[in-house]
Amino acid sequence: MILPIVAYGAKVLKKKAQVVDLQDPKLPAFIADMWETMYAASGVGLAAPQVGKPQRIFLIDAAPFADDESLDPSEQKVLADFKKVFINPTILSETGATWPFNEGCLSIPNIREDVMRPDQLRIRYTDADFKEKEESYSGLAARVIQHEYDHIEGVLFTDRLSSLKKRLLKGKLSQIANGKVDVDYVMRFPNDLKL
Ligand code: NI
Repeated sequence: MILPIVAYGAKVLKKKAQVVDLQDPKLPAFIADMWETMYAASGVGLAAPQVGKPQRIFLIDAAPFADDESLDPSEQKVLADFKKVFINPTILSETGATWPFNEGCLSIPNIREDVMRPDQLRIRYTDADFKEKEESYSGLAARVIQHEYDHIEGVLFTDRLSSLKKRLLKGKLSQIANGKVDVDYVMRFPNDLKL
């Protein structure tokens, strides 16, 4: 089932999400709905708060980035195979030089900005088979994880911009919150409902 994606301005996007109960019998169906929702919106990542659930879970399919010919073949291969669910993740460390990448977000349609983040990270999480994993990522794979992890901490990429950039975007962001945005997937706007 495709779930509406919550737009910028909703309180659920600013909240630190809660630990997921792995025994919850509804969890597998919720994960399936998140995949369906993400693909319907042509996203590479989706976090539970973006569908209105303040839970520590996000999923990523980075395959669309694998076609980027500016990347070296080994990174393209990693991205092509990077389809994962992260449940109750903890980023253990972030290392390496910070670098800019032009980020976008399904909750903030039609806005893209360069965001600086460290190149490498180590993360512990529970996977789709409910197994505990600890892994290292770098480059674009790390980048997508960092963006999605921010969502479960109640942080949006726009929070990481300079105060000048934030001021310049203010008008566009309030238009999104008010539903004045052209988007080809189903969204729910904060002023429609008390989210
Ligand atoms: Ni996002």
